[in-house]
Amino acid sequence: MCGIVGYVGDSKSLEVLMGGLRRLEYRGYDSAGIAVIDDDGALNTAKQAGKLAMLSGELDAHPINNGSTGIGHTRWATHGAPNNENAHPHLGDNGRLALIHNGIIENFSPLKDELLAEGFTFESETDSEVAAVLLGREYQRTGDLAAAFRAVVERLDGAFTLLAVHQDQPGVVVGARRNSPLVIGLGDGENFLGSDVAAFVEYTRRAVAIGQDQIVTITPDAVVVTDFAGNAVETEEFDIAWDASASEKGGWSSFMAKEVSEQPDAVANTLRGRISDGVVVVPELTEFGDEVLAGIRRIVIIACGTAAYAGQTAKYAIEKWAQIPVDVELSHEFRYRDPVLSDDTLVISISQSGETMDTLMAVKYAREAGAKAISICNTQGATIPRESDAVVYTHAGPEVAVASTKAFVAQIAALYLFALHLARVRGTLDAAGLAEQTAELLAIPDKIATVLEQGDTVRQLATWMSDTRAVLFLGRHVGFPIALEGALKLKELAYIHAEGFAAGELKHGPIALIEPGQPVFVVVPSPRGSAHLHPKVVSNIQEIRARGARVIAIAEQGDAAVLPFADTVIHIPLAAPLFEPLLAVVPLQLFAMELSVAKGLDVDQPRNLAKSVTVE
Ligand code: F6R
Repeated sequence: MCGIVGYVGDSKSLEVLMGGLRRLEYRGYDSAGIAVIDDDGALNTAKQAGKLAMLSGELDAHPINNGSTGIGHTRWATHGAPNNENAHPHLGDNGRLALIHNGIIENFSPLKDELLAEGFTFESETDSEVAAVLLGREYQRTGDLAAAFRAVVERLDGAFTLLAVHQDQPGVVVGARRNSPLVIGLGDGENFLGSDVAAFVEYTRRAVAIGQDQIVTITPDAVVVTDFAGNAVETEEFDIAWDASASEKGGWSSFMAKEVSEQPDAVANTLRGRISDGVVVVPELTEFGDEVLAGIRRIVIIACGTAAYAGQTAKYAIEKWAQIPVDVELSHEFRYRDPVLSDDTLVISISQSGETMDTLMAVKYAREAGAKAISICNTQGATIPRESDAVVYTHAGPEVAVASTKAFVAQIAALYLFALHLARVRGTLDAAGLAEQTAELLAIPDKIATVLEQGDTVRQLATWMSDTRAVLFLGRHVGFPIALEGALKLKELAYIHAEGFAAGELKHGPIALIEPGQPVFVVVPSPRGSAHLHPKVVSNIQEIRARGARVIAIAEQGDAAVLPFADTVIHIPLAAPLFEPLLAVVPLQLFAMELSVAKGLDVDQPRNLAKSVTVE
């Protein structure tokens, strides 16, 4: 939800800013813009509606003077249409100051009225321009960007990361954050700011996360962080665990194709260092406290979208192995309905980005209500882990495609590690049981690689179905959240109406949707591991087939019972029932991706979406 980058140093900032924006574009692609202070001390800006390529084209057509101080922005529109006027940066102090913003300024309307009454004028419909004009007014009063920021942030309600430059202060970029992300990159004679480390990982792997309600000033040789009152605060440096090449396409046709193919590694890397001699011991959980874990009486998982489906999948494993009740809630529903929480409730948040505002707010709410909070997160230095009691990082590597794939399987892997750790601490699985499940988990990366080999079958299916208007997905038990995830992927990537249902629910209503030719994907439970459920799902297949549905079954290798009733069968390797989701989801991801490609759509940047949803 808006990408932000700032630079001061020896390099010409334009190259740094455009490179950073390219790697941040997944956060929003409604418009892009930059502001640079050139070597003569003049402020130059360029902005353009549409994807970053449009801004590049504009800069080629109308080059601006380069310089060594600058800020850049890629927008996901909230207030005001995605056009040139509403693109950032916005100007203040008679065009001598430029500001970019991520978040929502909730009280922008009364502030705008106040400024209009003072004679200020506005070019855009955005809430962000109010902050630019306000900052300009305070700069005129204080003559110092950081001091002006301190005055402005006191007036703002809502969520914001703001970065600004002023032409009278070349070599200085100032930023402030409340509830929106901002990370510092430490260079040699140059420093960086970014919404996340992808903004500057090409130049440095040393980073510092900025806490809530803090202001940062970067110059080529110094970084100063204060609270909103101007008091110095301590910061902690961390090393970025991946390099710039990890966030490049590396020869793949899309980031999504690359990330889907990386799933065996995403799971293997998430398991690494957390299983020794066949026993799951997650160091981060041991540090959090096995005694605390043993005292937990209830778990609430909070997340949104795909991450919530990872939570729904893990609920089955946590309840079975650790024998503790688990509720899975959408973060935005949880937060506003007075949930019952106590100090023996453990809240587990799941977030790839670690910045999803709905989830962040839910975590804060839960901790204030006395619950303990553990975060499952893929992004170092992100806000949600910082607001939690402990974090178990997934090591899926940077996920750039807007629709989540490899982070999903890594999240399930991390949650299964959590479940097995908890089962050991609570004594709910004996050594043999723990060893059996751990061995299943360790076998998953190779099995995902086997599923990926069926890419051609799925591609063919997608090509045949490229003019399909609606697709249904059915699943039962752990196959149910996978059906939901399959439907979500298809909506996002191919803009096709898709619904996921619990197979048992079919005859309670959804079967009315079945008409001749209706495609239905069915995630079939294993006939060995789920002997009681398998025949029921095969009966469901017969019921829809009898009404003309076109059935695509995702079934275990050797499952002969589905063959007579399915139009297409996609086989997955044998696995214990709780592990099937990690395999069954892969053909569904591939199908959505291939259908998107077949329809000529942008698979990495689907319309209207942003990867990191940092507004409520
Ligand atoms: C779907 C997708 C979204 C995210 C959701 C949560 O493909 O990517 O549904 O899963 O917005 O995002 P994070 O995990 O960053 O909190």
